[in-house]
Amino acid sequence: MKIIMLGAPGAGKGTQAKMIAEKYSIPHISTGDIFRANIKEGTELGKKAKTYMDKGELVPDELVVDLVVDRVAKDDAKNGYVLDGFPRTIPQAEALDKALEAIGEKVDYAIDVDVPDENIIKRMSGRRACVECGGTYHIEHIPPKKEGICDKCGGGLILRDDDKPDTVKNRLSVYHEQTQPLIEYYSKKGILKTVDGTAEMMEVFASIIKILG
Ligand code: AP5
Repeated sequence: MKIIMLGAPGAGKGTQAKMIAEKYSIPHISTGDIFRANIKEGTELGKKAKTYMDKGELVPDELVVDLVVDRVAKDDAKNGYVLDGFPRTIPQAEALDKALEAIGEKVDYAIDVDVPDENIIKRMSGRRACVECGGTYHIEHIPPKKEGICDKCGGGLILRDDDKPDTVKNRLSVYHEQTQPLIEYYSKKGILKTVDGTAEMMEVFASIIKILG
C-alpha cells in the first residue's frame, strides 16, 4: 500500500502517518524529518535545507526528489510506505509517478487531511517535538505524560524553529500556492480521499482506516 499524506502544515499529517505506518507495518517516510535529522547531524544537505526551512520556504525540488526516489526503493519499502510531506509541488509528484511507473508501480491513495487556516496557527504554537525521535505532541490536545519530556524515548520536547507565528504564516501561503494544486492532481487520478482533520486525533485515524480498509 503506497500512501501520500496531503494537507497544510500542521494539519496532522505526521501524527496520522505514524499511526498508519504502525498499523500496516510500513515505513513512515517524512521529508521534514529527514531534513531535520540532516540539520542535527550538520550535513551539507542539512545546511542547505535549513536556509529554506527557517524562512518557511520549500527546499528546492532537486534536493528532495532523488532523496525520496532512493528511499522508496529500499527493501523495507517493498510492501508500501506512507509519504509525509512529499510530494509538495507538481514537479515532485510527476517525478515520483515517473519513478514508480518505471518499475510498474503507482501511488494507491492520496489522503488530504483538511484543516482550515484559522485552526493551524493555534495548533502550531502548541506543538512540541522531540529532539531525539521526532515524536510530536500538543500542549493542550495531545500532551506528553510528563511536561517537556517525550513519552516514547525520554528526549526533550521543543518548539520547532519554523513553528513561530510569522514563519507559519509564510508556510501557509507557500502551501496554498505550491502544494494545494496537488489536490486536483490526485483527484484527477481518482485516488484522492479527504478526511476532516479538525476532528479529534483518533476520530481522524478512524476515518483513514475506513478508507484504507
Ligand atoms: P514538514 O516537517 O513536512 O512540515 P509540514 O508539512 O509543514 O508539516 P508539519 O510537520 O508542520 O505538520 P503535520 O501536518 O505533520 O502536523 P502534526 O502531525 O505535527 O516540513 C518542514 C519543512 O521542510 C517545510 O516547510 C520545507 O521547508 C521542508 N520540506 C519538507 N518536505 C519538503 C518537500 N517535499 N519539498 C520541499 N521542501 C520540503 O500536527 C501538528 C500539531 O497538531 C501537533 O502538535 C499535533 O500534536 C497536533 N494535532 C495533530 N492532530 C490533531 C488533531 N486531530 N486535533 C488536535 N491537534 C492535533
